Amino acid sequence: MSDHELRVSKIRNGTVIDHIRAGQALNVLAILGIDGTGGETVSVGINVPSDRMHHKDIVKVEGKELSQDEVDVLSLVAPEATINIIREYEVAEKQHLERPDRVVGVLSCPNHNCITNADEPVETKFEVLDDGVRCEYCETILRDSIAAHIAVE
Ligand code: CTP
Ligand code: ZN
Repeated sequence: MSDHELRVSKIRNGTVIDHIRAGQALNVLAILGIDGTGGETVSVGINVPSDRMHHKDIVKVEGKELSQDEVDVLSLVAPEATINIIREYEVAEKQHLERPDRVVGVLSCPNHNCITNADEPVETKFEVLDDGVRCEYCETILRDSIAAHIAVE
């Protein structure tokens, strides 16, 4: 996005999640556990014009760099996004997301009878489908509710 189109200011330190599919920014915030109560300064652009994507969403979180677990879950809902780590106003790292084949230990299974929810829990494993994820133990499929089943903080 060229600077004359800039809608939200540049940030000094933190993370810019760019090229999010239009309409997905609120899901991205849910996945990051950002609901406004944590005190972070967050800027969100929704349906912003973009050269590459026609329209896109963008999320800027100041003072926070994402963990790899957070990046892995993000890649499920925003596989086309770019993660930019900003340090002293410069893009210090740029990571292009890729949809993983499976996610291990990141999501919880909604099926209470699943072995992953037993007294001696087994680490969760979900296979990534085109439109959701499937528990490798009980085959329960999560589609729209992925954000609500994140087991990591
Ligand atoms: N950005 C920001 N604050 C900074 C630096 C960059 O908010 N201090 C934002 C830019 O506005 C842009 C994103 O971080 O949305 C990536 O910056 P940059 O790599 O400079 O932009 P592009 O070259 O357009 O990125 P890409 O090639 O990934 O489209
Ligand atoms: Zn299960």
